[in-house]
Amino acid sequence: MSSGESGESKTYVHGYGEREAQRLMDQAESVRDLIHHDTEFPTDSRILEVACGVGAQTVAMAQQLSACRLVSFDKIPQSVGLAAERIRAAGLQRVHLLAADLFEAPFKPESFDVLFINYLLEHLPDPLAALTSLKALLRPGGDLLVVEGDHGSCYFHPDTPEAIRAWKCLIEIQAGFGCDSEIGRRLHPLLQSAGFEDVRVSPRMVYADESHPHVQHQFVLQTIVPMVEGVRAEALAKGLMSPIEWEKGVADLRETGLSSRGTFCYTFFKASARKLG
Ligand SMILES: C[S@@+](CC[C@H](N)C(=O)[O-])C[C@H]1O[C@@H](n2cnc3c(N)ncnc32)[C@H](O)[C@@H]1O
Repeated sequence: MSSGESGESKTYVHGYGEREAQRLMDQAESVRDLIHHDTEFPTDSRILEVACGVGAQTVAMAQQLSACRLVSFDKIPQSVGLAAERIRAAGLQRVHLLAADLFEAPFKPESFDVLFINYLLEHLPDPLAALTSLKALLRPGGDLLVVEGDHGSCYFHPDTPEAIRAWKCLIEIQAGFGCDSEIGRRLHPLLQSAGFEDVRVSPRMVYADESHPHVQHQFVLQTIVPMVEGVRAEALAKGLMSPIEWEKGVADLRETGLSSRGTFCYTFFKASARKLG
């Protein structure tokens, strides 16, 4: 749910409304090459996508890794249904979707060659417990691929006090759910703590100005701004900003994604690791 438009109660910071589903699709598309241009696994690899949501990454992965077998799951059946529709519409084969909770995942131990996790750990109060639990599903020698953001990596122009404050509301509200939206910088130690070996982290910076109009539109205006707008009700209810300050902050953030006037910078973190023995 974003901005309270669906009336559904929130169980995590961004909610499960239609606008959020579209935002996840725009987000995946806007940074697809940046994140996945070097994602490859051997033919017939059994890949488990954890927390696939509405299938934004599932479609991209199934298209890019068409010689692999993809199993994708999420704890919200409605999201899995939307993901299934997208997979069907794209005519993709070799994808199996199901609803399940990662802490009770219905798979045999060591039954996957690859675990893929995207924008999940930032939403979990105990990401280490999740990684430890999921690791059991990976065969010895198997690969882990994790992509997360880091909201503390973000800067922009014009950076008015209201725009900065609105952005920080997002971080504070996510923290109120017991979650860490700045988890990108912690991926290396986190994966090591979960017992993975050969951990490598690659920062992927998104930068937008008027010479990248597509990134301004799809990443800043369609992904970042709606994400901030989605916490409006909580920000105001908690008194983090007044309604007038909030409207100005969001309008100023929108300026950062408008041609000639704005620039925007954000860094994602892509980690790979291996399970030994
Ligand atoms: C920000 S969304 C990311 C979805 C997708 N990976 C993407 O990149 O578009 C986070 C997802 O994690 C799912 N999730 C959270 N906790 C989960 C759990 N314990 N088991 C399975 N899915 C979970 C949520 O339902 C939500 O779809």
